[in-house]
Amino acid sequence: MMSSLKNKKAIITGGSRGLGKATAFAFAKAGVDVAITGRKESVLKATVSELETFGVKAIYAVFDVGNYEEVKSNIKTIIDSLGGVDILVNNAGIGSFGSFMDMPVEQWTQIIQTNLMGMYYVTKEVLPHLIAKNEGDIINVSSTAGLTGNATTSAYSASKFAVIGMSEALMKEVRKNNIRVVTLTPSTIESDMSIEAGIATKGSEDSVLQPDDFAELIVAGLNLPRRAMLKSAALWSTNP
Ligand SMILES: NC(=O)c1ccc[n+]([C@@H]2O[C@H](COP(=O)([O-])OP(=O)(O)OC[C@H]3O[C@@H](n4cnc5c(N)ncnc54)[C@H](OP(=O)(O)O)[C@@H]3O)[C@@H](O)[C@H]2O)c1
Repeated sequence: MMSSLKNKKAIITGGSRGLGKATAFAFAKAGVDVAITGRKESVLKATVSELETFGVKAIYAVFDVGNYEEVKSNIKTIIDSLGGVDILVNNAGIGSFGSFMDMPVEQWTQIIQTNLMGMYYVTKEVLPHLIAKNEGDIINVSSTAGLTGNATTSAYSASKFAVIGMSEALMKEVRKNNIRVVTLTPSTIESDMSIEAGIATKGSEDSVLQPDDFAELIVAGLNLPRRAMLKSAALWSTNP
């Protein structure tokens, strides 16, 4: 059966690697034109070259999601270049951990600025386009750390708890506009972030969730008939 996603246009923040890259691949395989964003141009360029092999349009933009001026100009350029937007995956994020007292104020602030304010800025610039079409999908990536706090996660959990509140509120606001807002709270998935945090090791596909599992969940949600919406989902490993 031909995927209902074919010829849609998607923006994936933090699409250069990890969960965002896997999502970009799943979208490209389904015939979706994709724009990926991040701060490191060389990594974005390499990912775009791989995405182009699926025969879709693939572009990238280099900007910090935590900088509203950069977000405004780059989202406009992306949407002009794609010729519209149907799907936004708010995935860019940083996972920095440390005790409440040891973490410098600047680092704590940067986590909130990236994970929460970045999501707000990008959504604010994309949403008018979805409202104008009376159709769209927004996938917001929180975390299990957005459901429960732990020692060393004060900033990360604060940002991810806030993402859930913002995402649920937005969902209730724009459901009437035929815009589905999904809040995801995945557990540990093997990526640079989880490996650097010491909660996953490279090559642990037998025991740890993989970015492709996350991407598959997103595609499944998007493939639901438009009358149905995956409101939220917690992706867990079968390995306790
Ligand atoms: N991996 C897990 O276990 C896990 C579990 C639950 C939730 N999550 C969430 O899933 C999302 C993706 O995580 P991941 O594991 O794939 O992380 P990752 O491998 O570290 O990738 C993060 C992505 O976000 C981009 N990014 C980071 N800061 C940015 C900024 N200020 N502006 C623009 N782009 C930025 C990165 O690109 P540049 O470095 O080029 O900027 C990269 O593409 C995050 O929101 C994370 O909190 C992850």
